[in-house]
Amino acid sequence: MFRKPHIAPLAAPALQSPSTPNRATLTLATIALAAAAILWQPSPVAASTAPSQDPAPNTLDFYNHHVLPILQTNCYRCHGGFNHRGGLNIVTRAGLLKGGHDGTVIIPGDASKSLLVKLIRHEGPANDPMPMPPKSKISDADIATITQWINAGAIMPDTPPQ
Ligand code: HEC
Repeated sequence: MFRKPHIAPLAAPALQSPSTPNRATLTLATIALAAAAILWQPSPVAASTAPSQDPAPNTLDFYNHHVLPILQTNCYRCHGGFNHRGGLNIVTRAGLLKGGHDGTVIIPGDASKSLLVKLIRHEGPANDPMPMPPKSKISDADIATITQWINAGAIMPDTPPQ
């Protein structure tokens, strides 16, 4: 006689151990890993704010790396520290904007109307105020750097350099 084949009962599903992460936890972990992977990529924003070889003229980097050394070398001994020749202190932006005995010396955004630029180009009056620096002329490249910087807004810190 035909006997029904004996079917072994299916093994009872293993009890889920409490330490087994459930599906939701796994999904969250995956998302977290993916997010971390994205965050770890060097982002373009970080790259552009890093000090670069060629900072734009409207940045503090440009002032610090290109303009400040020119001013320190050629102007600070008479217009920095305790020396405010011509009533002009160029160490802070406030000082530079205040100007000297003859009034405003720079117009941020307009180098061509800035007295300071006329004086360093030796295109101002022969006297009162005289060309700057008084006994020499800075290089054309340095004049161009200062001109570029004033045209870009004369961005500089309002605290004296350390
Ligand atoms: C050796 C000292 C000396 C140096 C260096 C010097 N200056 Fe002067 N500066 C003076 C004197 C003095 C005056 C006032 C001149 C006058 O009124 O005729 C003056 C005046 C000025 C004025 C006009 C201020 C005003 O309102 O009359 C400007 C702008 C100026 N200097 C910029 C500069 C810059 C920029 C540099 C560097 C590139 C520089 N100076 C380097 C001595 C100096």
